[in-house]
Amino acid sequence: MNQMSLSIKLLGMMDRLDRIEPPPAAPPAPIAEFSQWMLREGVTFLNHGSFGAAPRAVLAAQDEWRRRIEAEPIEMLGRREPELVAEAKKPVGEFLHMAPADFGLVTNATEGVNAVLNSLSFQPGDELVTTSHVYNAVRMAMRHTATRHGATYRQIDLPTPVQSASAIARQVLQGLSERTKLLVIDHITSPTALIFPVEEIIAGCAGRGVEVLVDGAHAPGMIELDVPKIGATYYAGNLHKWSCAAKGCGFLWVAPKRAAEIHPCIVSHLYGQGLSEEFSWQGTRDISAWLSLPAAMEFMGAIGWARIRAHNHGLAVWAHRMLCERWKVPAMSPMDGSLFGATATILLPGKLAEMEEPQAKAMQQRVYDEERLEIPFVCWQGKCHIRISCQMYNRPGDYVRLAEVIERRAGE
Ligand SMILES: Cc1ncc(COP(=O)(O)O)c(C=O)c1O
Repeated sequence: MNQMSLSIKLLGMMDRLDRIEPPPAAPPAPIAEFSQWMLREGVTFLNHGSFGAAPRAVLAAQDEWRRRIEAEPIEMLGRREPELVAEAKKPVGEFLHMAPADFGLVTNATEGVNAVLNSLSFQPGDELVTTSHVYNAVRMAMRHTATRHGATYRQIDLPTPVQSASAIARQVLQGLSERTKLLVIDHITSPTALIFPVEEIIAGCAGRGVEVLVDGAHAPGMIELDVPKIGATYYAGNLHKWSCAAKGCGFLWVAPKRAAEIHPCIVSHLYGQGLSEEFSWQGTRDISAWLSLPAAMEFMGAIGWARIRAHNHGLAVWAHRMLCERWKVPAMSPMDGSLFGATATILLPGKLAEMEEPQAKAMQQRVYDEERLEIPFVCWQGKCHIRISCQMYNRPGDYVRLAEVIERRAGE
């Protein structure tokens, strides 16, 4: 057998091996206690993804900062603010490999995205492009920007199931046109909980005159992240989701070549003095959440970021498989979990899959009121799904309870 036919044979074998289902993964052992969070006892909370949940230690640090600000408002906000914010940024920069000058703190990812969109100019005929998996608030901000400039907003349709990262990248890149000026791409999508191959997509955009804004609302803390290495022009992220910071903590990173052109949504005293400075003062506001960022980094760092990610992803892979098998529903992405992190979207069984938006919303409320179970229902491609989140305070039994509640509701 010559080299070529041997390679083809081996590739064929690998292809077959890929299709052999791995044995069910055992759920991971717990690494933290529910009581370390403020979450209400008696509620099965499976929706860390929407707004995060802050540990008690982080909120205690925030309370202390708020107390200090109120005790000495002029000292803390008038004189020491730049130094305090710079200190708070340090561990975040180290965690995500961002130089302090290249990023600013914002309240949330939506604000970071809006800061970029508000700062850019477009011509009539230019296209602002994203995918059908875009978060609705970002869709609206893009539409608003397109309308203001007489430009066009367009979505690349990316149907599920998806088989591989390279297939996603290929479809996104094929969807661009010569009029596309800005691509807004999710790092981890909201309705479908998929990790998009942002590096591959950005590499494909280089040379086509397409700049990329990554919406990384879910990525920091959920997956290993080196922001500059991704190669985007802009990266907006949240820290109050998977980094367990207090609510009101996000960041915007900008490639140095564009830093002078990007301004916060609130333009204030430090306009024109550099990206980091401009973002650090946006008028009088409660900066206690930002100042407690080192406490969040310390809390998570002490448990161990890699350990946290392994726990949360391991639990998601196990729960995803368990639910798909119990409900006999097709998976949206490979069963090995290679395309999701600590969240996964799963088709509902039986007639529940046929619910439309208003019914799904009502069912989510009923499940909370009557079962004390917090789980988001997601309408996607004309079918109703749920999206599970897996954080350190969750246990395998939470997802078994979810399965039982859903099965009971499906049988009603
Ligand atoms: C993909 C994505 N982008 C942006 C956001 C907005 O986050 P925030 O409300 O913190 O700005 C979310 C929120 O869930 C999201 O899932």
